[in-house]
Amino acid sequence: MPILSRIITTTFNKISKNITIKLGSNIRRHQMSHDLDTLPRMLGWSHSLQTCQETLAHGEMFHLLAETTNRCNFDCEYCFTVEETVGDANFHTKPLPGELNLTERLALIKAAADLGAKIYDIVGAGEPLIDPLCLQQIECAVNHGLQPVVFTNGSVLGSPRQGRQRAEQLWELGATVVVKHHGPAELHDRIVRRKGAAKLRDQALELLMELGFNSTTPTQLGIDNIVYQATLPWIPGCLRWCRENNLHLVCSSFIPSGRTKKVTAQAASSEELRRLFEECRRIDEEEFGISHSEQMPFVGSGRTCTQYLGLYVTIRGDVYGCVGKTESYGNIRDHTLAEIWKERLPLLQNSFDGGCPPRHRFQ
Ligand SMILES: C[S@@+](CC[C@H](N)C(=O)[O-])C[C@H]1O[C@@H](n2cnc3c(N)ncnc32)[C@H](O)[C@@H]1O
Ligand code: SF4
Repeated sequence: MPILSRIITTTFNKISKNITIKLGSNIRRHQMSHDLDTLPRMLGWSHSLQTCQETLAHGEMFHLLAETTNRCNFDCEYCFTVEETVGDANFHTKPLPGELNLTERLALIKAAADLGAKIYDIVGAGEPLIDPLCLQQIECAVNHGLQPVVFTNGSVLGSPRQGRQRAEQLWELGATVVVKHHGPAELHDRIVRRKGAAKLRDQALELLMELGFNSTTPTQLGIDNIVYQATLPWIPGCLRWCRENNLHLVCSSFIPSGRTKKVTAQAASSEELRRLFEECRRIDEEEFGISHSEQMPFVGSGRTCTQYLGLYVTIRGDVYGCVGKTESYGNIRDHTLAEIWKERLPLLQNSFDGGCPPRHRFQ
């Protein structure tokens, strides 16, 4: 969306939000009592099953998920991108051999735009915002009409030295930002294996909220809190906080890849997931007047996982159907994106029902 219309939308949303608050919770409940399949999630991820199916029928891509560098300043115990040396705490300290250069990364974004892609998910093999090329990738995506959705551990945006400048750049570009968040500070720092990480995370969120990322509809701010044994007790509180502050909660079980490739005792069982999602459904209905199907893959966000509808390209150019890595399509240096998309499209056209096939296979 052009910057000006985004400012108008933001202003309107700020006004309507104030009115809603003044009118009280009954009005808010009335306005929100629909299945979330038809309600906004976060900008870029807010599409109904019908839109997805129409897009596929036209042969178009939805998401490009393309990584930035492997370098990361955290060492999360569950990181799905730590592929080769699963236990190695130093895995993220340097780039991987043969990472895509800037020309290749920009060509990839243009190729996805030519195939109709609407969203650019920057998931990072490591931490996107410490990659010096990341901003140029986001700018390229915006210039080609793609909505950028940036996943970050919050360390750069929470830094007093560079956080504000980076956050303002992302706001100007109209990006949606998802910050990693695992509940209480002590737990968060333990999971990501960095002391002080939660403090940076909180500073990042405060700054993004000050700039208005959570004042738009759909919101441009989310948090990612992965559901597993360590985080299970904290998810309901997290959901309440998100609802109260207009943040989208990305709250899924493990991606079956990297450090969580195999089911371990750390993962939540299907029964625990079912109970948690049911509790979240009840909280939404009773406390926020939101009815939804409670289904995977995201708590309270209806049935459609749009990320499955595209291609995932790692920083070394390996192409998969999605981050679940259950379908492999060779390397982008050997085939064009158009060739790869043509190969994958029939599978999606014939089978997509809004769900998350890799997770179904995992459980
Ligand atoms: C690989 S990270 C890269 C971006 C950034 N470094 C971060 O962690 O936010 C992309 C997203 O995947 C999530 N993630 C990482 N490993 C995961 C796993 N095993 N299962 C589910 N989500 C995972 C992260 O929390 C993050 O939201
Ligand atoms: S911050 Fe992201 S990339 Fe870094 S270790 Fe954690 S999940 Fe992996």
